[in-house]
Amino acid sequence: MKIVVTGGAGYIGSVLSKLLVEKGYDVACLDRFFFGLDPVKEIADKIKLIKDDIRWFKPSILRGVDAVFDLASLSNDPSGELDPQKTLEINYRGRVRVAKLSKKYGVSRYVLASTCSVYGFQEGILTEESGLNPLTTYAKANVLAEKEILPLADKHFTATALRQATVYGFSNRMRFDLAINGMVLGFFKNGKIPIMRDGKQWRPFVHVKDTSNAFIRVLESDKELVNGQIFNSGSNEQNLQIFDLASFVAESIDLPFNYEWYGSTDTRSYRVSFDKIKRTLGFTPQFTPKHGAKEVFSALKEGAVSADDPRTITVKWYKHLLEMHALIKNVESKGIIL
Ligand SMILES: NC(=O)c1ccc[n+]([C@@H]2O[C@H](COP(=O)([O-])OP(=O)(O)OC[C@H]3O[C@@H](n4cnc5c(N)ncnc54)[C@H](O)[C@@H]3O)[C@@H](O)[C@H]2O)c1
Repeated sequence: MKIVVTGGAGYIGSVLSKLLVEKGYDVACLDRFFFGLDPVKEIADKIKLIKDDIRWFKPSILRGVDAVFDLASLSNDPSGELDPQKTLEINYRGRVRVAKLSKKYGVSRYVLASTCSVYGFQEGILTEESGLNPLTTYAKANVLAEKEILPLADKHFTATALRQATVYGFSNRMRFDLAINGMVLGFFKNGKIPIMRDGKQWRPFVHVKDTSNAFIRVLESDKELVNGQIFNSGSNEQNLQIFDLASFVAESIDLPFNYEWYGSTDTRSYRVSFDKIKRTLGFTPQFTPKHGAKEVFSALKEGAVSADDPRTITVKWYKHLLEMHALIKNVESKGIIL
């Protein structure tokens, strides 16, 4: 079975691609490689690498492909605000293009990498049926993409959206701009866990291998169960308030709970129900934030990732790329950096 993973060299995409290879799937990774090729180094001889952009790749790439996992995007709120028009171009119109072309070229399964941040700020426990409250360009682009892509579903084209919780854990494209990973980095560098004010905000979390497995679960489930559906990807037990999360992180690394506050009060807070994915697809995560924190701490101690690698803070790296005028000459990017 042939699968194209857009954003396959990203934080989640590189883990997902590896899991797919291990399961014997034929994988192609379509990516601009903004974070380089290192994330897919381990599997480079087992997958096809396509350096291209979801906004203008040649549609023929999709000929003979059975499934598309669509993960390419500017992947967080601050990156999405660097240039809101570009964010909408990539995260909304680019992914709608991938979905429409997939349908046109006879791809039978398509999964959109969406986010629980579409819930924004809300009280109570939010399900896939709850109202949305996207507070940033990034979240709005996800809502728009879901709204245009899911109605494409029909008996030949199975389209599904996975609203992922905030992800944690080690990946070869490491991200320290995600809550748990960033807390561990702060501890590693200064012995203090950085906590975003006011610490009472709720967030759901999911390990990078677990959310990758959720994509595979969707692919391997009966079409009738997933077609046109949205699933929150995570687990009820991993809805946590940020201050409590920080104390778990300290406990799991077995160090005294020292912390420091940063930022202004977070405007986002959401608690999410993951009953649907459990009930419908039997999906239950295997890892906890404690596993993730330990794993990231070990990776830092053992040098598997550098605490100072500038690529690990997504928004800073995109800013850097924008400033690197040399990249304008990059032919594949048609002279466009982002
Ligand atoms: N990491 C999380 O906590 C999280 C949570 C919810 C949803 N998501 C979503 O899951 C997806 C993957 O996230 P991630 O954490 O792996 O992000 P990431 O930034 O690590 O990966 C995104 C990949 O997409 C590529 N890319 C960006 N624009 C592109 C374009 N125009 N054409 C081709 N490739 C392009 C980048 O080079 C990168 O390799 C994203 O859509 C993100 O919004 C992530």
